[in-house]
Amino acid sequence: MPSDPSKRTVLLTGAAGEIGHGLVHGLRSHDDIRIIATDLKEIPEQTRSLCDEVHVGDVCDEGLMQQLIAMHEVTDIYHLAALLSTRAEHVPEVAHEVNVGGTWNLLKLAAAHSASHGERVRFILPSTIAIYGLDGQEHKAKVGEVEEGSYNLPKTMYGANKLYCEHLGRYYSRHYRRLAEDRGTALVDFRSLRLPGVIAAETRPTGGTSDFVPEMIHAAATGQSCTCFVRPSARIPWMTMPECVQSLLDIGRVESGRLTQSVYNVASFSASAQEVADVLLRHFPDARIDFEPDVNRQGIVDSWPEGVCTARAAADWGYAPRWNLDEAFEQYIVPAIQSHYAHTSG
Ligand code: SER
Repeated sequence: MPSDPSKRTVLLTGAAGEIGHGLVHGLRSHDDIRIIATDLKEIPEQTRSLCDEVHVGDVCDEGLMQQLIAMHEVTDIYHLAALLSTRAEHVPEVAHEVNVGGTWNLLKLAAAHSASHGERVRFILPSTIAIYGLDGQEHKAKVGEVEEGSYNLPKTMYGANKLYCEHLGRYYSRHYRRLAEDRGTALVDFRSLRLPGVIAAETRPTGGTSDFVPEMIHAAATGQSCTCFVRPSARIPWMTMPECVQSLLDIGRVESGRLTQSVYNVASFSASAQEVADVLLRHFPDARIDFEPDVNRQGIVDSWPEGVCTARAAADWGYAPRWNLDEAFEQYIVPAIQSHYAHTSG
């Protein structure tokens, strides 16, 4: 069933995840987009109802992904499916298979589809601050904000996977089969954003190392106590889910001629666990937060930068953060989380 050629058709993987939930809602506000969503897990009804089609399936399943891309004449791929940093450290080989294998599978298929249709498939991949690797607390404090090209020495399987996938994406979009005579011109149009810790009011994170902040916020909003697994001074960059979704939509829409690189840092503010807890306590004075650092997870956070430079994203495609820490709480986190828990049992 080919889609109407005047429309764009998005294949979205990882649709049952946190960003998938937000992105489907964001994409849906554009009527001329068809959404084909997949996940290994059952996609929640709230998300399903906004998609044109949903498929339960594995991103490593070449036959299924090929069928979806060809059958729907996919023009854009948002490839969100991945094992995050904490989960990946427990099962690194599986993480490699899914994070690298799944991305490679989709890039190959996107390249073949681009070539056969003479039109570049747009491929948007969320990357991460985990691709940076600093040598612990002191080094991190000394380095401060990092630019895209520095400290690309990840200390987690997740970070290594994503860094390699950035390279693969760049290869497929600029250098693929560079010596082949029948190479053609329609290569994949690859773009990637290095996301910071993302804070969502409507969903709870699982499997990430930046989960310490969202966990704290969701616990406070539901009257539960929270034991934070990093020390109070642990600082990384953050953004809220609406900002994350907006930046993914923006990078997906921008004219390729404006992009001077394929991978960009994005983030709204940097904050330590204690700074977030202080703002949280102003809004939820009964919140109970203890700190019991887990040495291993703390080590991962100590290898991530405390801030990222977003100047390239600002210059090339007009990226601008929407909220600082206080504004994020006032204008999004508190109202959205209160409304969320008023309508659900948690
Ligand atoms: N949120 C991710 C994680 O914690 C980092 O980008 O794994």
